[in-house]
Amino acid sequence: MTQAKQYWWQNAVVYQIYPRSFQDSNNDGIGDIKGIISRLDYIKKLGADIIWLNPMYKSPNVDNGYDISDYRAIHPDFGSLDDFKELLAQAHKLGLKIMMDLVVNHSSDENKWFEESRKGPENPYRDYYIWRDPVDGHEPTNWGSYFSGSAWKFDETSDQYYLHLFATKQPDLNWENPKLRHSVYDIMNWWADMGIDGFRMDVINLISKPAEYKDGKLADGERYADVEPIVANGHRENEFLQEMHQNVMAKHDLVTVGEAPGSSVKDAEKYANLDETELNMVFQFEHVSLDGNPKAAFGKWDDRHVTLNEVRTSLSKWQTNLGGKAWNSLYWNNHDQPRAVSRFGNDGPKYRVKSAKMLATLLHFLQGTPYVYEGEEIGMTNAHFKQLADYQDLETHNIYKQLVTDDKLIDSATMMKYIEFHSRDNARTPMQWDDSENAGFSNHQPWLKVNQNYSEINVKQALADPDSVFYYYQKLIKLRHELPVITDGKYELLPGNDQDKDVYVYIRKNADTTLFVIVNFTEKQLTRKYDLPDKKHLLISNYDDDLTAQLRPYEAKVYQF
Ligand code: NOJ
Repeated sequence: MTQAKQYWWQNAVVYQIYPRSFQDSNNDGIGDIKGIISRLDYIKKLGADIIWLNPMYKSPNVDNGYDISDYRAIHPDFGSLDDFKELLAQAHKLGLKIMMDLVVNHSSDENKWFEESRKGPENPYRDYYIWRDPVDGHEPTNWGSYFSGSAWKFDETSDQYYLHLFATKQPDLNWENPKLRHSVYDIMNWWADMGIDGFRMDVINLISKPAEYKDGKLADGERYADVEPIVANGHRENEFLQEMHQNVMAKHDLVTVGEAPGSSVKDAEKYANLDETELNMVFQFEHVSLDGNPKAAFGKWDDRHVTLNEVRTSLSKWQTNLGGKAWNSLYWNNHDQPRAVSRFGNDGPKYRVKSAKMLATLLHFLQGTPYVYEGEEIGMTNAHFKQLADYQDLETHNIYKQLVTDDKLIDSATMMKYIEFHSRDNARTPMQWDDSENAGFSNHQPWLKVNQNYSEINVKQALADPDSVFYYYQKLIKLRHELPVITDGKYELLPGNDQDKDVYVYIRKNADTTLFVIVNFTEKQLTRKYDLPDKKHLLISNYDDDLTAQLRPYEAKVYQF
């Protein structure tokens, strides 16, 4: 079934910018708004339609801006509100739309709401956050934080615990309180009135907390409970999103994507339903959670490369189930995930370019809105830092302390391998613009080390090479804009392909066009024969010629008929 109504964001491509790491204009080692403005032409050249900016609000930066102390101010590291307005104007002039990050599951503890709230139970802001009495002198529940340790912190001033699903300096907002909800809508409308074009909503499926906080006191030696299954997709989630829609999205032409860890296809069908009553799409986590550690205490920390079977089963499930009902967002990586080519492809010199193009082909012909994370379009790789001191991310340091130092569950060398594979800093190293010192990102030592491979992998090199990953992405984006079948065609896995552990083949089809997408996920030379009409034409490939039944390492090709 192809869907009838089309929305402008359905054939759009989003380019994600991590502002701290994109371009530094004032040489303090931190990327900034003026730096972004100076690179808008580059994004335009790539062909993207929308820019998603990770948080740039005022923040003490314990979690790089995901701890907001003022929702209406820009952090001075990035510039001023006037700079932001200038960015908006310049982007709009080029036909680029701007999507802001909205972080309203939690704020910073330095936000004035929390500073008021912690003054005590009588304060009008007390119920903006989630406070609970101790139970027998312990935390109210056994919930663990995403960033290690308990999800509760005792506050001496009022003798109560507050909930923080992330860092202790990121207290959770209380969405049960209508005043808080309307304060959030006011903030959203304030930015929308300024002219922004959308919101990416941080962990938005965690805002509706359980009706009851059952006492799950930790027994001696017991670990804190994985909080996601307890809090994600709560009983009032759809109601809150619908209310937000009525109060904000219905009043502006905005594109919205909700980050939704732990959401199932059924959850996403509602959040991202095509009637536009909640959000436009969600970031689901299934395909980026397949390579986690089988031992619960380790969570995502492992260095296993996922198999094609696992990836295909997951992607296919989402394509098939959301098709015609809701909208997928398509991504391999972002600021929280390792670099795509290192994780799913092959980042060695021989196959980096081929496998980066293969992954791009696989993703960009699926149904949904693709997200390109800064540097992905030139095949940037994981950082491969060997020393813990080279990492800045609090999640990485907290997990090392927990698993190696405190709980002694793993030796340091093995943990460092896991960190090298999975740390969020892999994606956060400065953008590699050229082969000058600090990769053209800054003249000052950057806040996080530059990836050592910057002299070979950089934008200058990519733009000078007609066969680069950059121009391949440019072509994919152009095809999406020009060929309706990429947006509206039905997805179908080639019958029998689910048995093939090396090659992924799927079909996209609308009333007048069929696309046949073939990707060799391995470095092996393979032979595969598919029954294809004579009247087909090769739409795109990452090799210069077509050996029909032969598939070379990481070969990707798409036929149109
Ligand atoms: C998800 C964000 O993408 C991540 O970077 C952040 O640490 C957490 N949410 C908490 O805000």
